[in-house]
Amino acid sequence: MAILLKGMSLEETVFLTRSMLNSGEVLRWTPGSPVVDKHSTGGIGDKVSIPLAPMLACCGVRVPMISGRGLGPTGGTLDKLESIAGFRTDLSKDEIYTQVNSLGCVITGASPELAPADRKLYALRDVTGTVESIPLITASILSKKLAAGLDALVMDVKFGSGAFMKTVEQANELAKSLVAVGQEMGVKTTALLTNMNQTLGRAAGNENEIRESIEILAGNGPRDVTELTVELGARLLRSVSADSSLEACRNQLVATISSSTALQCFKEMVAMQGGDDSLSFSQSPAQDIQETPVVAKRAGYVSAIDAQQLGFAIIEMGGGRKRLADLLDHRTGITQIARLGDFVHQGDELVRFFNKSSHENERLEVQKKIEDAIVILDSPPKPFSLIHSIIE
Ligand code: URA
Repeated sequence: MAILLKGMSLEETVFLTRSMLNSGEVLRWTPGSPVVDKHSTGGIGDKVSIPLAPMLACCGVRVPMISGRGLGPTGGTLDKLESIAGFRTDLSKDEIYTQVNSLGCVITGASPELAPADRKLYALRDVTGTVESIPLITASILSKKLAAGLDALVMDVKFGSGAFMKTVEQANELAKSLVAVGQEMGVKTTALLTNMNQTLGRAAGNENEIRESIEILAGNGPRDVTELTVELGARLLRSVSADSSLEACRNQLVATISSSTALQCFKEMVAMQGGDDSLSFSQSPAQDIQETPVVAKRAGYVSAIDAQQLGFAIIEMGGGRKRLADLLDHRTGITQIARLGDFVHQGDELVRFFNKSSHENERLEVQKKIEDAIVILDSPPKPFSLIHSIIE
């Protein structure tokens, strides 16, 4: 509580982060290409890690991505990947080393040996109202990420209705703290502040996000999420190859899409992790899933989207967790989400959602939640800019 009220100096936060990191195992890499990773503070429809890991691997860096599950309205990368039949997210340390050194990337869960102090401290923070302390968040995130033995890290710090940090000021403070502590710990750390006042891409929910990730890798994904994936990757590549320009790094990543090498690498990653490389889904086909369009009740401009409400609607359908032990229905979710600033006519489709057809009451509740989450007005909103700023 004293830390929440008084904060901590940079030196103190570095000391805490290092102690938490060293409470468990740290991966040690053989000499070779740089080891990099990306972390997002979480947002609705944020599937960037899934295409980014293979894209980076195709650019010659090693990517040991240790990811988490979803709790609350933002989804988790592991849950999304587990919608692919057979995909394992519990790789051992040796499996991580072997896969990253041969293929270039892995996306797996944290073993209990990784930064165990964070689990204990987080449980204490959770019941003492001290989760929101910026230095404690910094130490928590970085101790887990840096346990993967990284040379460089890029952070996607999100703000807005669908993010953990609601205001750009809070997100900026967290981003600065993460970058300063990461740098002090010898890891080249960059942060992008990005706007979560609407979903990222056009799909949210586990299977839907895998489908959209494959579209990104195949070169026909939505522009916003493709651009953010490339931008985060380019910042990482540049931080480990100082003689390349940012533009050259972007082009290198885009080429992994146009040549289909990143899609091929993704399929190999799925196969190496026990999944079906024809990318079939683990839950039964969608006969008992029904689609419901949500339409505009009036004409006008889409002026506000409460992305967090859309995340809660997915939880309501069983696609996200209220409690850590909840089982997911990966097939539920939403697609075709209208964008801020779109002009719509009365009756135009804004969102389509997928829920279990046996759950009629839930369908009506979800429909209401989604209708309430989207505001249509006569005049257009201020232009939406996805990347707000970059902290290096
Ligand atoms: N995410 C984390 O991993 N830790 C925090 O403290 C907050 C968000």
